[in-house]
Amino acid sequence: MTEPAGSTELEDQGLPLTALAVAAGRAVETSRADALVADPFASALVVAARSHLDLPTVWPAEPAEAPPLQQPLLLASIYIGMRTRFIDDFLQSDTPTAQNVVLGAGLDTRAFRLDWPDGSKVFEIDSATVLKFKAHVMSRLAAEPRCKLISLPADLSLPWREQLLATGFDPGQATTWVLEGLLPYLDAASQRAVLGEVAALSAPGSRAVIERAVALPKTDDIEAKLREFSEQTGLPMSELLARADPPDPVELLEPAGWRCSTHTVEELCSMYGRVLSLDASGTANLAGSEREQPSPDQSRGGFVTAWLP
Ligand SMILES: C[S@@+](CC[C@H](N)C(=O)[O-])C[C@H]1O[C@@H](n2cnc3c(N)ncnc32)[C@H](O)[C@@H]1O
Repeated sequence: MTEPAGSTELEDQGLPLTALAVAAGRAVETSRADALVADPFASALVVAARSHLDLPTVWPAEPAEAPPLQQPLLLASIYIGMRTRFIDDFLQSDTPTAQNVVLGAGLDTRAFRLDWPDGSKVFEIDSATVLKFKAHVMSRLAAEPRCKLISLPADLSLPWREQLLATGFDPGQATTWVLEGLLPYLDAASQRAVLGEVAALSAPGSRAVIERAVALPKTDDIEAKLREFSEQTGLPMSELLARADPPDPVELLEPAGWRCSTHTVEELCSMYGRVLSLDASGTANLAGSEREQPSPDQSRGGFVTAWLP
């Protein structure tokens, strides 16, 4: 059985393995011939972390033949690739705002790899350890942000508004908010509080892209799936994921005047021509609609995009 993640050097330093696993997913996606995103920094971030986990950074020629420990992460990389591209597309669509906030930014490198309009500011909030690690590796790579990057170490399960204001965030300006892979790690009350702050700090014209958390009740079936995934990957999912009653972002934002759209994972699969399966090499071909599709992944909640008129 895999060594419990809590006892690793990395975990002791406070670098969350989930942030690293997501960066590995982007590295794998970047390596594919049909890549949906190019994150030239993801692989270096994973390597620099020197994790004891065997995190894949390259899409293998025969993914279904990959070592069993890597298969769940390769499968996850298909989802991470689509998620990253979906949010990249959202950020680069129609009406970019000069002010942007990434909550739970992790090892996201959008500040360094996207074309930001002149004068753009990107505020990244995460733990000090994550932000310091990323800044250290990016500086070693001589990577320069393509916007004004403001890193704010803060705990999003505690009040963070004053800290954000103190770094120069202007609540009078329209803002784009990114909540990618964050809500599942917060308990329901903290999710509500974070979404409430997003609404409270948003001027007209603001936008948000939010990956939803799904309810993961403590049924035997879900416990067994989480345990199996943790044993295979070393990621202690059952400890990490907030388990009960996640609020629906739409129900919180619409009463505050936001217009919301929802996007299922299946929609992303069809938008980007991907199948969440290693057998299908993760790519839907022309016959894809006739091929038996894997059942929808119940652990994924899809996305909400929202706009405040
Ligand atoms: C799964 S990672 C996703 C990171 C990034 N959004 C991405 O997609 O690459 C979750 C991130 O949320 C951060 N996070 C979780 N709980 C947090 C909290 N209470 N305050 C600040 N950051 C938190 C973690 O440190 C981690 O970097």
